[in-house]
Amino acid sequence: MSKNFYITTPIYYPSAKPHMGHAYSSIVADFFARIKRIQGYNVFFLTGTDEHGQKIQRAAEKANKDPLKFCDEISKTFKDLSSILNLSNDDFIRTTEKRHFISVENLWNILEKKGEIYLSKYAGWYSVSDEAFYNDDEIDTVNGKKICKSSGSPVEWVEEESFFFKLSKWQDKLLKFYSENPKFILPETRKNEVISFVKSGLKDLSISRKSFSWGIKVPSNKDHVIYVWLDALTNYLSALNYPDEKNNLFKNFWPANIHLIGKDILRFHAVYWPAFLLAAGIKPPLRVYGHGWILSGEEKMSKSKGNILDPIEIIKVYGLDALRYYLLKEVSFGNDGSISKEKLENCINSDLANNYGNLCQRVIAFCEKNIGLEIPSTDKFNNDDLNILNNFSSNIDNIIDKIDNQNINYYIDFVVGQLFNANKYFNDQAPWTKKSDTKRLNTIVYVSLELIRKISILLYPVMPQTTLKVLSIFSINEKQINFSSITDNKFLKEKMKISKLDILFKKINKND
Ligand code: ME8
Ligand code: MG
Repeated sequence: MSKNFYITTPIYYPSAKPHMGHAYSSIVADFFARIKRIQGYNVFFLTGTDEHGQKIQRAAEKANKDPLKFCDEISKTFKDLSSILNLSNDDFIRTTEKRHFISVENLWNILEKKGEIYLSKYAGWYSVSDEAFYNDDEIDTVNGKKICKSSGSPVEWVEEESFFFKLSKWQDKLLKFYSENPKFILPETRKNEVISFVKSGLKDLSISRKSFSWGIKVPSNKDHVIYVWLDALTNYLSALNYPDEKNNLFKNFWPANIHLIGKDILRFHAVYWPAFLLAAGIKPPLRVYGHGWILSGEEKMSKSKGNILDPIEIIKVYGLDALRYYLLKEVSFGNDGSISKEKLENCINSDLANNYGNLCQRVIAFCEKNIGLEIPSTDKFNNDDLNILNNFSSNIDNIIDKIDNQNINYYIDFVVGQLFNANKYFNDQAPWTKKSDTKRLNTIVYVSLELIRKISILLYPVMPQTTLKVLSIFSINEKQINFSSITDNKFLKEKMKISKLDILFKKINKND
């Protein structure tokens, strides 16, 4: 089995600065990138910005800026957010880069050569906000204005000469592809939506625009710019230097293991993208996961709705790892979820300060006071010790399988369960009552330290900064983290010095 793993986020529109929804997709992708890395995979994790098309051109005009300059500025805020979120991305692609033009032009030329493209005329609805063409039955009239029913975005009537991709001829092949690759689209409910959309009949797709210029020109006809979605989707190839054969990136990492996206852009990724790729003779990605929305109240948080929560403000007040933990644990992955300061504060108090923070602090403080800051020697483990320690080895295959099906909540619930058990173990064993039985006292502390180590490894993809702080007391650094070491019950070496640990999470006093 190949040990390479390629994961991507959507490339975001730099039409306005990033918000919590963007942070959410990126944090989830980072979680998967990190967990696969500590499982020994060679991971390539990509994110970036989608900078062409009418939406960006109009936003730049509105700001009275040259489009590239406009993109430079806002793309930088997305790049800065990547480091504020502590993303471990290996690359950040911008579609205005030369390498991207090369890939897109190449893909276009292949499709044209294979007879998959023809010139005709488009007459229909277009949403600049979604950069999407819509059928009549997808349009509604609200207060005299035409909008798209599903996204609520305004649409305008477009009539212009356009190149078309022969999407209709791929309808049956796509349906066959979905049935042969039952986990290509997850979660399952989304897959059914896509399949019924394809079954309802695919029309050929307009893939060029003529009425504006901000984009990549059609190589054979410079009056047209390539449709921004064909341009944008190709980022997943251009970051691998496609079609450069000498470079191993494409060979090693394509097809992508997972395109992680929001459900708003599922049609582009699960219908158009595999159709383009199959038509060009390139393998489709292995999986497209369309997660739910982060809501603001009852509505989707979005730039156009103006109801956004700024992740940077939240991080300043509560810290990055608290935000990462909240989004990964409290949102049921695949479904919509919400975030508010109150919910975040409750989560910090109950899970982080009282559960994880408390376990680490009390065990290490007890160790320091009674044994000194070093790993104690152990006696034989008794049944209580083995029961709790072996929970990790007996569940490891199961949790890896859950992760490979993107079941984040199962994974985190497992870890929270172990945290609860570990605190309970320390209480029940009550080492402070064992001062006359040094061997037993030492063993209880040893087991508790092992539990802290195992749990911290499991929590590393969720909260890298905090867990690295904890693991560093055992002299374990990021490169040394090995997922399978959670099955080892005697990883910590006796007599090894450990260091002190500062408070990890301060409890938030609700009366402040
Ligand atoms: O669609 N909740 O870019 P975009 C959860 N450029 N996720 C959200 C969200 C929310 N409220 N709001 C945004 C585009 N997202 C295209 C993508 S990819 C080849 C091109 C996340 O800036 C989610 O991942 O509108 C969603 O799919 C993406 O940002 C859309 O970002
Ligand atoms: Mg959008």
